[in-house]
Amino acid sequence: MSRPKIFITHPLFPAVRELLDGQFETEYWRGPHPLPRQELLSRVGGLDGLVCLLSDKINDELLDRAPRLRIAATVSVGFDNIDVPACTRHRVVATNTPGVLDDTTADLAWALLMAVARRLVEGDTMIRTGKWTGWEIDQFMGGDVWGKTLGIIGFGRIGQEVARRASGFKMKILYHNRKRAPIEKEREFRATYVDFDSLLRESDFVSLHVPLTTETRHFVNREALGKMKPTAYLVNTTRGPVVDEAALAEALEKREIAGAGLDVFEREPQVLPELLPLANVVLTPHIGSGSTETRTNMGLRAAKNVVAFFNGERPADTLNPEVLAAK
Ligand code: DGY
Repeated sequence: MSRPKIFITHPLFPAVRELLDGQFETEYWRGPHPLPRQELLSRVGGLDGLVCLLSDKINDELLDRAPRLRIAATVSVGFDNIDVPACTRHRVVATNTPGVLDDTTADLAWALLMAVARRLVEGDTMIRTGKWTGWEIDQFMGGDVWGKTLGIIGFGRIGQEVARRASGFKMKILYHNRKRAPIEKEREFRATYVDFDSLLRESDFVSLHVPLTTETRHFVNREALGKMKPTAYLVNTTRGPVVDEAALAEALEKREIAGAGLDVFEREPQVLPELLPLANVVLTPHIGSGSTETRTNMGLRAAKNVVAFFNGERPADTLNPEVLAAK
């Protein structure tokens, strides 16, 4: 019997290839990244499965050309690249990779928080450019982190891991979420539920962990930024469009807030030019989950979803179980 044909839009990692190659007829995209759209569209015709990245859009345009496709597995926890209702209409199972990147992403949120508050990049640049002439009492004075108030917007797994790390810094933790967390979770993380406006007004650090949906697009807009303290910092490791980047650049430029740490951008890989000259923003290229261990585990998780599906099992991370139920 012929083996299911799977296209993987990146070579990923040896352990992932070993798993997939053992079960399927595989083909990996080894060309430039992200995979050009037309290239992807031209390849999906004869596929049974697709392992894709967050830069690959899975929508009607693609699904219409993929009559044999049974599963689309994104190697990311965020799945705003997948039109899940369209997959359901085409009876294609969609999966993501939750759970394996929570700690690594929380670490990066903390790295950005510390970097912007303590002005690490500015200090590093001064040394590398030979401009450091000696210790000065008022040089690169940042904001304290310890003992301050951390506001977490989106109290899912990653938000909770960010909260866990705050205890070591003796911080007060506020959170806002669509649904209030169970009392045991609030106790475990010493986190207090507040409404959105109170969180913005009271926090010294605001860290974003909501997924990108139609409701959360520009969740942090000019009005929200206006409610933050002028001494507060914003950290975004979720998805760029959750923040109105132009409004943020203006708030940073006018020092309406103290700073920002951004790992994600509205139009990746483009970054709003207004952000680039600002010293009070630290920028990283969407590396929240970017440790060797975690990226490998994400690839494995996506591959295991595909393996489970073709073995007649329910993939652990199915986003549209109704497709399986209808089989
Ligand atoms: C995700 O998984 O959604 C991240 O943005 C990339 O790891």
